[in-house]
Amino acid sequence: MAVRSALFNVMSAAAMKAARGLKRDFGEVEQLQVSIKGPGDFVSSADLKAERIIRTELEKGRPDFGFLMEESGASPGKDPRHRWIVDPLDGTTNFLHGIPHFAISIALERDGEMIAGLIYQPISDEMFWAEKGAGAYLNDHRLRVSARRQLGESLIGTGIPFRDHGDHPRYLRTLAALMSATSGVRRMGVASLDLAFVAAGRFDGYWEFGLKPWDIAAGLVLVREAGGTIGGFTAGDPIDTGDIVVANGGLYEPLRRVLLESIAGA
Ligand code: IPD
Ligand code: CA
Ligand code: CA
Repeated sequence: MAVRSALFNVMSAAAMKAARGLKRDFGEVEQLQVSIKGPGDFVSSADLKAERIIRTELEKGRPDFGFLMEESGASPGKDPRHRWIVDPLDGTTNFLHGIPHFAISIALERDGEMIAGLIYQPISDEMFWAEKGAGAYLNDHRLRVSARRQLGESLIGTGIPFRDHGDHPRYLRTLAALMSATSGVRRMGVASLDLAFVAAGRFDGYWEFGLKPWDIAAGLVLVREAGGTIGGFTAGDPIDTGDIVVANGGLYEPLRRVLLESIAGA
């Protein structure tokens, strides 16, 4: 049974309150799909509103902690050890297009280490959460990464770079390699949920380049606490490099090897 700590209660209250607004706004966005102006500005304001609600609620629970938030950036708190890392709406493009797959992601960093993470999907009402040393959960159920050991049987999540973001030829080499090495690759459009899906054993692994700390901070705690392995393509921490590969313990090395060889053009 999941033991919900006081810290979890602070994080989930913030996420649930912001989620109520996002759900209402998502209903509006679905209506706006067919209007000439489109839902663009409306979505930006939904995003900002969610961030404000989360900040206010987290400040009520832990007044001294600092913040790193996607929309408003970094602001130190009185307590230099703790910082919230927040993506108020992960999966903006899905939200904008009326696709019901998006999330709120909240992580807590202590002395540079992620110690708690919560990812809430308002439409499916799925709360993925984890605390250092206490395990990872989906609502009240304990999560474990998958047990698959064959890359050929695996389902792998990813994020595809778009417009002028990222190195497209490099990405295409990794994708081509994994298309033939696995049972399938999925681009769902929400990095935090991709990580939560690895923690839940829905995906066997995941890779992406060019992410921001708020995309992955909470998911990293989930994957770690669910028994998965986390790394990148170079020596640096994925939080700093933005490049990430995660998988269950048995598939991590084979997956990373295929990715590295494809990047090197082998
Ligand atoms: C994006 C999503 C997407 C990932 C992008 C992110 P946003 O975040 O997580 O899955 O591929 O790199 O920027 O903009 O929707 O918060
Ligand atoms: Ca976002
Ligand atoms: Ca994001």
